[in-house]
Amino acid sequence: MGKRKIKVAVIFGGRSGEHEVSLVSAQGIMKAIDKEKYEVLPIGITKDGRWIASGDPMKALQSGVDAGSEPVALLGDPSQRGLMHLKESDKGLTPSRLTEIDVVFPVLHGPYGEDGTVQGLLELAGIPYVGAGVTGSALGMDKLIFKDLMRAHGLPVVPYLSIKRKEWERNQEAVIERIEAMLSYPMFVKPANLGSSVGITKVHEHTELPLALDEAARYDRKLLVEQGINAREIEVSVLGNDDPIASVPGEIIPCREFYDYRAKYIDEGSKLLIPAPIPEETALRARELAIKAYLAIDCAGMARVDFLLDRDDGTLYLSEVNTIPGFTPISMYPKLWEASGISYTELIDRLIELALERYEDKSRSRTSYSPM
Ligand SMILES: Nc1ncnc2c1ncn2[C@@H]1O[C@H](COP(=O)(O)OP(=O)(O)O)[C@@H](O)[C@H]1O
Ligand SMILES: [Mg+2]
Repeated sequence: MGKRKIKVAVIFGGRSGEHEVSLVSAQGIMKAIDKEKYEVLPIGITKDGRWIASGDPMKALQSGVDAGSEPVALLGDPSQRGLMHLKESDKGLTPSRLTEIDVVFPVLHGPYGEDGTVQGLLELAGIPYVGAGVTGSALGMDKLIFKDLMRAHGLPVVPYLSIKRKEWERNQEAVIERIEAMLSYPMFVKPANLGSSVGITKVHEHTELPLALDEAARYDRKLLVEQGINAREIEVSVLGNDDPIASVPGEIIPCREFYDYRAKYIDEGSKLLIPAPIPEETALRARELAIKAYLAIDCAGMARVDFLLDRDDGTLYLSEVNTIPGFTPISMYPKLWEASGISYTELIDRLIELALERYEDKSRSRTSYSPM
C-alpha cells in the first residue's frame, strides 16, 4: 500500500482581468503535477467571485456555464479546515459537507488572488498554501509601495512619481506641472495595482499625458508615472523560502512598442530568449538583485522578478515582482527553471513542499502571550 496522497486544491479563475490567463496556467499545473504523490481538487472562482467545485469547474469557467458545479466556500475557521460544500435550498445556501484539503495552490493572477486577499483567507482558515504570504503578495502587487520599499533598501528603480486619482481629478494642471518638473518624455503612466499591462500607457509627449492619466485612473485610486527607459526586459525566476535561489535570466523581446496586453496575449511574435544574451556580469547582478528584492518584500515559495536594462548606459533597474507568475508550460517562470535544471513537474513538487515547510515554520510561533 502506498502512502496517502497529499490533497492539493488548485484554485483558478478569479475576479481579475487575468482570469483567462489563470485558467491556462492552472491547466498546465494540473496536467503536470505528480499524480502518484498528489490528489488534485480543482476549484474555480467565477468572474463575479463565486467559488465552484465538483463536476468540472475548469470546463464551467471556460464555457461560462456552471450547471453541475457545486458552490463551495473556505471558512475562516480553522476548526472547519477544508472546503465547505454548499447546497442551494429555499433557505439560501446551506452547508452540506466538508472536504479536507492539505494544501492550496492559488493560481490566480492579479487583484483578488495575487494581492494577499486570498492569502489572508487561507491564513484564517489555517491551510498551507503555495507562494507568498499576505505581506509579500500585497507588496508585490502594489507597484508604488514596491518601489518605495526598493528605494529604502538602496535597490535601483527608475525615477517615478505617485499621484492620487482624487488629486488628478481636482487639479489637472498642477499634477501635470509636477510630473513635467521631475520626469522627461517618454514616460509610463500606470495604475498602482494591476497586471498584464492593463491601464498602462507610454506617453511620448505633453499632449498625450492627460489621456494616459485618465486611463490609469479608471483602474485604481493610486497612479504611478515612471521615467521611460530605452530598455531591454530581463526576468529572473526565484524559488524558496528563507534561502531562495535564482534561475538564469531570460529576456523578453516584445513584438510591439512595449510589452503591452496585445504583445503579451494577442499578437503573436513576442519572443522569450533563454538564457538572456547579456554579459555574465549583468546576469549575476540580476540574480543577486532578484534575491534581494524577494527577501525585501518577505516573499515565499516563488516569484518572477522583472528588470529594465538600460540600452544606453547598461543600468539594471528592478521593475516589479510577480508573486504568482504566468505558469503555462511555455511561460517564462517554469521555462527559466527548466533551463536551470528543474523540470516543470519537479518545480510544482518543490513549491508544494515549500508551502508545507513554511506552514510548519509558522506554526512554531506562539499565538498567545501571558505577561508575568
Ligand atoms: N519605466 C519604463 N520604461 C520602459 N518601459 C516600461 C517602463 N515601465 C513599463 N514599461 C513597459 O511596460 C510593460 C508593462 O509594465 P509593468 O510595470 O511590467 O506592468 P505589468 O504589471 O502590467 O506587467 C513592461 O513590460 C515594459 O514593456
Ligand atoms: Mg510586467
